[in-house]
Amino acid sequence: MRVLVTGGAGYIGSAVVQQLVAGGDEVVVFDDLSQGHRAAVHPQATLVVAGLDDRAAIDRAMAEHRPEGILHFASHTLVGESMEHPFRHLGNNVRNGLNLLESAVEHGVRRFILSSTANLFGLPDRDPIDEDTSISPGSPYGESKFILERMLHWMDDRFGMRYAALRYFNACGALSPELGEDHDPETHLIPIILQVALGQRERVTIFGEDYETPDGTCIRDYIHVEDLADAHIRALRALDQGSRTYNLGIGHGFSVRQVIEAARDVTGHPIPAVAGPRRPGDPARLIAASDRIQRELGWEPKWTDLHAIIESAWAWHRTHPRGYDDRASAPAS
Ligand code: UFG
Repeated sequence: MRVLVTGGAGYIGSAVVQQLVAGGDEVVVFDDLSQGHRAAVHPQATLVVAGLDDRAAIDRAMAEHRPEGILHFASHTLVGESMEHPFRHLGNNVRNGLNLLESAVEHGVRRFILSSTANLFGLPDRDPIDEDTSISPGSPYGESKFILERMLHWMDDRFGMRYAALRYFNACGALSPELGEDHDPETHLIPIILQVALGQRERVTIFGEDYETPDGTCIRDYIHVEDLADAHIRALRALDQGSRTYNLGIGHGFSVRQVIEAARDVTGHPIPAVAGPRRPGDPARLIAASDRIQRELGWEPKWTDLHAIIESAWAWHRTHPRGYDDRASAPAS
């Protein structure tokens, strides 16, 4: 299939591109490289450097490459940042998604995969969280993804756009030692811990130790990017049988303390940790019920062992301590 992947130079997008190319798909990556990295784009993929705020550039890419499907990853994704700057998410994510959808409809594209999020469930009333759990986004970021899910519902209803909304829990790990997580600034737990092991930070701060969990720290469902990529590809292949929405996680969780402990074992570094206050909006537990995608698409997570997950992330961070090393350097004086 010919596919257009927005955000295909980013952490999850680049992993999915890798697997699409390996499976014989023709891939065009559409990315403005504001968060993504040129070096993360598969050499067999065509890279269009442009933003989704540029409707003409989207139209040109559609006309030139005539994709049969779109995978949409490009967005602002930080929950905390969205609380501080809601328009960055409610504005850009929604406006850019709308540009992409309008262009897709006009160019006859009828297959669409949306990168969605567990943040849709806010402080959830179910554990584990299945697709019927009530939606109450925990942030403007989560709300922006929900608005996109609803737009897709109407695109299907009005134009026969078949879509899959994939709601990830906590994406983690590296697809290979050459393709990993490189955010600036980094806010996610596992890379922060590994930056301590690399000597780039002195310690990790645990955001709250007084939650109602066995060790008092938050529990999350960490899903490896390879399993995420597999889910995207299965969902893409199944779209012709109808639209669908899936929660994606491994079905059990690890606490912040357990993650730190496992990283100490894997890296051999003491990884100093200090307790800090809770981070606003953090639920105590977020665990996915992914039975639906398992039942309907035969998807099953391979990465369920925390040590193995951290080893895969460590293989990337250890060999790429400065990530893709493509940040603009200060001009020479
Ligand atoms: N944490 C710390 N210290 C840190 C960083 C994180 O204790 O320095 C804790 C957080 O409080 C949380 C856990 O580690 O309990 C995981 O935090 P992350 O920031 O790694 O991930 P989040 O759970 O906040 O968010 C991630 C994605 C979101 C997505 C969400 C869905 O970044 O986009 O998972 O579960 F919405």
